[in-house]
Amino acid sequence: MDIEAEIRALQLDSAEDNNATLIPEDAKPEEVEMTDKVEEGMTDEVDTKSQPVQAEPKVKDKEVADMDCAEVPDEMESQKKRHLNVVFIGHVDAGKSTTGGQILFLSGQVDDRTIQKYEKEAKDKSRESWYMAYIMDTNEEERVKGKTVEVGRAQFETETTRFTILDAPGHKSYVPNMISGASQADIGVLVISARKGEFETGYERGGQTREHVQLAKTLGVSKLLVVVNKMDDHTVNWSKERYDEIESKMVPFLRSSGYNVKKDVQFLPISGLVGTNMKTRVDKNICPWWNGPCLFEALDSVEIPVRDPKGPYRMPVIDKFKDMGTVVMGKVESGSICEGDSLLVMPNKAPVKVLAVYCDEDKVRRAGPGENLRVRLSGIEEEDISSGFVLSSVVKPIPAVTEFTAQLQILELLENAIFTAGYKAVLHIHSVVEECEIVELLQQIDPKTKKPMKKKVLFVKNGAVVVCRIQVNSLICIEKFSDFPQLGRFTLRTEGKTIAVGKVTDLPSRSSA
Ligand code: GTP
Ligand code: MG
Repeated sequence: MDIEAEIRALQLDSAEDNNATLIPEDAKPEEVEMTDKVEEGMTDEVDTKSQPVQAEPKVKDKEVADMDCAEVPDEMESQKKRHLNVVFIGHVDAGKSTTGGQILFLSGQVDDRTIQKYEKEAKDKSRESWYMAYIMDTNEEERVKGKTVEVGRAQFETETTRFTILDAPGHKSYVPNMISGASQADIGVLVISARKGEFETGYERGGQTREHVQLAKTLGVSKLLVVVNKMDDHTVNWSKERYDEIESKMVPFLRSSGYNVKKDVQFLPISGLVGTNMKTRVDKNICPWWNGPCLFEALDSVEIPVRDPKGPYRMPVIDKFKDMGTVVMGKVESGSICEGDSLLVMPNKAPVKVLAVYCDEDKVRRAGPGENLRVRLSGIEEEDISSGFVLSSVVKPIPAVTEFTAQLQILELLENAIFTAGYKAVLHIHSVVEECEIVELLQQIDPKTKKPMKKKVLFVKNGAVVVCRIQVNSLICIEKFSDFPQLGRFTLRTEGKTIAVGKVTDLPSRSSA
């Protein structure tokens, strides 16, 4: 059975989804209100440590805290730009870190001296051509091996937008890290190597070009810029034929993965290493046939999904640390947060107060959905929070469950495996990673009619779409896909392979909220 065709049947995130709704051109950008600008030159770490202890904020009336936040007036309108989280995905060695590094260089974040230092370091490690990637690949293991392991993070700005780059690893051993990067992103830059043989390996079954696209779609990355990279390579030499070949193979695959190729996908050729067609359009002498935009233009004009700053607050925790209180990191999926707010850490229902909110290096009074934040809390110890917990509205807390119903698309089971009650896998849903067990198969869905089949289902094979009950051992915070797509879609993995993607269709009526 054609698995890609089947993914479409699942319609995890079709063009009809609320995710795909676009902001009208004249709509206001995401709101972030800056307060203190942290002293120049300070790193993230220094910045949090250098903040004076905050006076205990005045606690607001619990009932109105969530609503109030979105109403805080904008004082520094001129400084506001919309914010986008961009994840760089694609097969190993496609050039994700190199392209990310080049973006930072071209946008003036990295000076020539640093580049020269990286050139020397890369040469010493016999990895001459990796110097641009060193901007994103910051730890020794990554530099020695020439492979990203942890998702790299960086910020840059264009005229209209503040971007957070999330540089995902391409190697198949690090897919869980890629999942965590993609789950924080609004849009994806899919990097494909045009070099002879490299496009082919990434695209074939088992290649990460495929796996990343499918995961990105499942994890809520609603738009993709597909950059055909390494156009400068001597096997490519800015060949239109090669570019067209890659585009023509990718389009049906992207479509079958659920992307509306006309609306949500844009292709462009670049050289990440040389920096061609990135900040400025490629010279006609180099590439006479390209009349489209360069990467910065394409990024600038991407439309972002509508987000509701007045929705109930939801921020899945991706990391936490101690720093004059407890600091949690994560992306706001719904609602707004203000200094002084009273919130709950779910699923342990711990009441907390917001002492400070940091967006990139800036301390802000208020932040809306889509922002990556560090939030300093009082009322909870760092040990009592795990990644996967959700900072949540008091009035409408996120449900906490140990069981839920989901519609699953089986992609590729391990050899000889059958998918039946008792099947165990690792569940990845927003920042949650939990062992889970399929406790009951409820219905198989006919991929053609999209209707449930009459026959009782005991097991299914690759390509099947099935509704089932899933259990986990400890409470997890999730939402129905139809209510909050970002918090209701997931992947199942076994032995390091993605075996299914799914969406939460039902939660127990008395979830522990
Ligand atoms: P992983 O993090 O391991 O998934 O790889 P990656 O996608 O981040 O690739 P990386 O940026 O580390 O680059 C891999 C190799 O491709 C390096 O040798 C780069 O110099 C080379 N490379 C990247 N972009 C280009 C390009 O535009 N042209 C050429 N010729 N080589 C490139
Ligand atoms: Mg990399």
